[in-house]
Amino acid sequence: MFCENRGAPYRRVIYIHNLPPFVYFYAAKIQASPLLIQMLKATGIHKNYGSLEVLKGVDIEISRGEIVSISGSSGAGKSTLLHILGTLDAASKGTLVVDEVPVFKLKGRRLAAFRNTHIGFVFQFHHLLPEFTALENICVPGWIAGKKTQEVQSRAVELLEILGLKDRSDHKPGELSGGEQQRVAVARALVNKPSIVMADEPTGNLDSANARDLHKLFISLRDRFQQTFLIVTHNEELAQMSDRILHMKDGKIL
Ligand SMILES: Nc1ncnc2c1ncn2[C@@H]1O[C@H](COP(=O)(O)OP(=O)(O)O)[C@@H](O)[C@H]1O
Ligand SMILES: [Mg+2]
Repeated sequence: MFCENRGAPYRRVIYIHNLPPFVYFYAAKIQASPLLIQMLKATGIHKNYGSLEVLKGVDIEISRGEIVSISGSSGAGKSTLLHILGTLDAASKGTLVVDEVPVFKLKGRRLAAFRNTHIGFVFQFHHLLPEFTALENICVPGWIAGKKTQEVQSRAVELLEILGLKDRSDHKPGELSGGEQQRVAVARALVNKPSIVMADEPTGNLDSANARDLHKLFISLRDRFQQTFLIVTHNEELAQMSDRILHMKDGKIL
């Protein structure tokens, strides 16, 4: 007889009954340590703007289902790093593997398609399209990926429900509060079921209650769907709620 443990994030252990006790002992040990699946690995990331060296050799590894925060003072290179890891900008040197794909080898359309389907972005400002409804805004990355309209729409509806925005589906961004706008932006980031969500100061424009709600939302998305997050933040509370905090200074991770 088989049964599955689906309880904890990124753990999936199958029990087989009626085996000798030592098997359960070792199975329990294995279960106690999460089965780490690598989601992102960056090595030796450098970025120069002319003679200005903004990133001086950054190494990062993130496992599936981890919430990792990057903190550091203004000008430390956090946004530059996030843009490079999100393939929005090119590194001067280094390697990047996301979900087993050596990303820096991709160019043009293939890179754009990879970015659209594997990486979700949330920025400080929501960047929602003002003429589109919440539902339509969430659908946009799915449409760009060429998925079937019906499939994209039902995913968007599912996300509106998960994010507590079901009754805001037909509202345009101007008719939503700051917290709701940012949740729609999170839903848009999730519509293609990305390998990783990257957020740059996602609570920078929110009051403390809405910021806290957004933190809780990230954690529940990790717990329910094993979603991986990399979050640049000044918000100490958000940083403390994450699994790991990386401190950045002068283009390096300390
Ligand atoms: N396009 C650019 N051209 C030249 N310098 C840049 C550019 N983008 C960022 N920088 C410089 O890189 C440094 C790091 O910037 P940034 O990554 O935005 O820092 P942070 O997000 O940590 O505040 C800063 O000194 C900034 O002026
Ligand atoms: Mg920044």
